[in-house]
Amino acid sequence: MTAIPREKSLDSTRAFLSEGYAFISTRCERFQSDLFETRIMLAKAVCMMGAEAAREFYEPGRFTRKQALPKPTLWLLQDQSSAQVLDGAAHRHRKQMLMSLMTPTAIRRLSDLVADEWRSRIARWRDADEIVLHQEVEDVLCGAVCNWAGVPLTGSEASARTREFAAMIDGAGAVGPRNWRGMLMRRRTERWARGVVEKLRSGEIGPSDGAAAHVIARHRDLEGKLLDRSTAAVELINVLRPTVAVARYITFGALALHDHPECRERLQAGDDEYLEFFVQEVRRYYPFFPVVAGRVLQEFAWRGRRFEQGEWVILDLYGTNHDPRSWHEPGRFRPERFRHWDGNAYSFIPQGGGDHIAGHRCAGEWITVELLKTAMRLLTREMSYRVPPQDLRVDLSRMPAIPKSQFRIDDVRGL
Ligand code: HEM
Repeated sequence: MTAIPREKSLDSTRAFLSEGYAFISTRCERFQSDLFETRIMLAKAVCMMGAEAAREFYEPGRFTRKQALPKPTLWLLQDQSSAQVLDGAAHRHRKQMLMSLMTPTAIRRLSDLVADEWRSRIARWRDADEIVLHQEVEDVLCGAVCNWAGVPLTGSEASARTREFAAMIDGAGAVGPRNWRGMLMRRRTERWARGVVEKLRSGEIGPSDGAAAHVIARHRDLEGKLLDRSTAAVELINVLRPTVAVARYITFGALALHDHPECRERLQAGDDEYLEFFVQEVRRYYPFFPVVAGRVLQEFAWRGRRFEQGEWVILDLYGTNHDPRSWHEPGRFRPERFRHWDGNAYSFIPQGGGDHIAGHRCAGEWITVELLKTAMRLLTREMSYRVPPQDLRVDLSRMPAIPKSQFRIDDVRGL
């Protein structure tokens, strides 16, 4: 077995937090290697990147997500007892239930609800001096997804839920106050979600077959038992919160339209093939989830190294999406590249790679793509706006990233 490069410093936690999305790829380039060893929070970790690394990482059954994320991050993301920390048959069974929510008809319905909610706000935006697009879109998505899931919210509940979900998403990659705020907000959302599950089970919230909250509340595990109330609440939150998180990609999409007026023209003209390329390029180019992490379940060898059971491995998602071996001029925003994309499930991994059911690839990827398309259509074909001077820089050391000003617009008009 060959030795792989090792970071010299005793611990890389500070470097990871300050370099953010670039941490793994910069070192891989320096070491001229797809992988290296380091210590993060004093624990030994193997960091890796690239399509071949992703193929190893997403081999079904090879890794578990249990004890793979620091607890404060896990709590704000999928949480204990969620599908993400299950393995084997139990994971497949839970994941099948989640994927059953993702039919083309259901996704279309969610997109229509988002479009309706968005259109109803255009009049309000027209009357405002200025709006912060990212926050408005979070509101739109939260109202629409709760309605879609079968748990419609009143006005004041909707803004409370939006702020809670937003704080969880924003706090997940942070250490300190941003993370603590997310935790506090998560406790409130959990109380609400447990109440929802109870009301669904007692019939206080009426049946609405096929809606996500009902499917989750009625789901039975492999032994035929209903999920306990907390687990059902966690899974409900895991559908609602990440849908609100799509607002980040929509904001990046708006930034791309602003920076590349030629793309806007093509979308405005109704070119739906190009729209598909455009949203995929938004997901490839802009930073969202920096990495995923796992612990080895089944030993294996790769690049001359033996990966022992329990070892901690961190896969660079952002670096893989920007790997020049897979992507020509990866630092350029160029939607056309997707015209000739080979569909490789390991080189384009903004939401994980491999198979959706057999592995841990994101359950909401199709929703994400569809909502991004809907939003880009609305931004280019149903409204006009001005982008006033503001700080649109994206700081790659802040996880999760967002343009500094969160994209402010004014002079909004419906078309
Ligand atoms: C906003 C954009 C999104 C991004 C960037 C994103 C990213 C990710 C990533 C990186 C993973 C982990 C993959 C792994 O562990 O290997 C994941 C898992 C997951 N995501 Fe998403 N996601 C997004 C939206 C969504 C949406 C809209 C939903 C649901 C409606 C969703 C539900 C899930 C679930 C349930 C899992 C756990 C899957 C499993 O462990 O089998 N995500 N997502």
